[in-house]
Amino acid sequence: MKQGKVMVDTGKCIGCGLCGRICPAHNLEIKNKKAGTVLERCILCGQCSAVCPKKAISIAGRENDQIEKPGEVRLDPGAVLDAIRFRRSIRDFRQTEVPREMIEQILEAGRLTHTAKNLQDVSFVVLQREKDRIEEMAVKVFKTVKPIADLFSPMARKNEITDHFFFFNAPLAIVVLAKDKTNGILAAQNMEFAAEANGLGVLYSGFFTMAANASRRIRKALGVPKGKKPAMTLVLGYPNVEFLRSAPHKELSVRYM
Ligand SMILES: Cc1cc2nc3c(=O)[nH]c(=O)nc-3n(C[C@H](O)[C@H](O)[C@H](O)COP(=O)(O)O)c2cc1C
Repeated sequence: MKQGKVMVDTGKCIGCGLCGRICPAHNLEIKNKKAGTVLERCILCGQCSAVCPKKAISIAGRENDQIEKPGEVRLDPGAVLDAIRFRRSIRDFRQTEVPREMIEQILEAGRLTHTAKNLQDVSFVVLQREKDRIEEMAVKVFKTVKPIADLFSPMARKNEITDHFFFFNAPLAIVVLAKDKTNGILAAQNMEFAAEANGLGVLYSGFFTMAANASRRIRKALGVPKGKKPAMTLVLGYPNVEFLRSAPHKELSVRYM
């Protein structure tokens, strides 16, 4: 069976045409009261398979990756806004290990995040054992460029590059790799939500991501495959700080036209 091909079980298909209506690639048409594909390739978004009332459509090689929707799945809008409002970047972590199942749930949030053209190009490097060794490499990179940054930025001058400048002694960091940076960042955001829903605190380390992109040695140590780049790095752990209120923000800037 050709991996990654849309398959229609004509024995189950009732020719309702729902698949053809939602297919963004116009790959499914009804002929003789049965659905069938008309293209060699599509983006394999799987919407046809997800909408079919008779479970007649599958993607070869991905048959076991579907879960029935347990009724309406909807978050409380106010709770979602509060989660966004009260989340803070965490730079002070408890020295408590993050359970394996929690890490797996966070990775699952990343894996399931939508990608442009359904590229599904996002992968992950979980740093635990090797975290300090990798951080040391990034510290070296930043110490080399710091004198230049100091020339231009008073904030850089105040910011010492300590041994834990990137990961703040957190128990865990996850480097999100992607071909398309936007895809990686979207995955990172969903992973942050999943982490916070588990009581974890998160920091986006743009600085570590920058160091990894600047250093072939770091990318090699992380095992970044050809064609992919570090898109974002999440630093995670149980927070050792409690914020009591939301932080002040700029006013909404919006134009309705
Ligand atoms: C893309 C991105 C990269 C960031 N990189 C870093 C970083 O390398 N180091 C750091 O201490 N904070 C980093 N931050 C945290 C921001 O400085 C922080 O979000 C901002 O100060 C607002 O604080 P808050 O997240 O608590 O609202 C990053 C945030 C984002 C969104």
